[in-house]
Amino acid sequence: GGRTITLNVNGSDYKIDADPRVTLLDALRERMGLPGTKKGCDHGQCGACTVHVNGRRVNSCLMLAMQAEGAKVRTIEGLANGDALHPVQAAFIKHDGFQCGYCTPGQIMSAVACIQEGHAGSDEDIREFMSGNICRCGAYPGICAAIKEARE
Ligand code: FES
Repeated sequence: GGRTITLNVNGSDYKIDADPRVTLLDALRERMGLPGTKKGCDHGQCGACTVHVNGRRVNSCLMLAMQAEGAKVRTIEGLANGDALHPVQAAFIKHDGFQCGYCTPGQIMSAVACIQEGHAGSDEDIREFMSGNICRCGAYPGICAAIKEARE
C-alpha cells in the first residue's frame, strides 16, 4: 500500500491510491464508483467529462486526480437535491436537450457553469461558452433553450 490521497467529491471524501498518472476522470469512474461523468475522446476535445472543480468547469480527462486534492469536485451525481432535479436538469428534459444522452452529463455541468459564470446572456454567448461540449446527435437547439429557461 502506497500513499493515498483524499478527494472531496459532491461533499464526500474518497480515499484513493496516489497514482501520479491517473486522471480525475478515471479516478471518478473507476476508483470512486461515479460513472456519471463520461469518457468521450479522453483528449480534451468533446466535453463529455466536464465536472466542476472549486466551482469552475474542467475537462476531467485533462486533470490529474492528484491535482484535485484539497479541492471541491462536483459531478453530475451531485447536482440533484435528493429527488429534486437541479433546474438545469429539469430544463434539459423539458426542452429535449439530448437524444442518446451520452454527452448529457458534461453538457449539463457546462450549462450550470455557463449560467453561474454569467455567460448565458445571449444565444451567441451560450454557443461560445458551450462550444467545447460536442453533441453528435445535434441537440444544440434544445440545449440552448434549456439554458435560457434555467437562467431565469
Ligand atoms: Fe474529456 Fe472528451 S473525454 S474532453
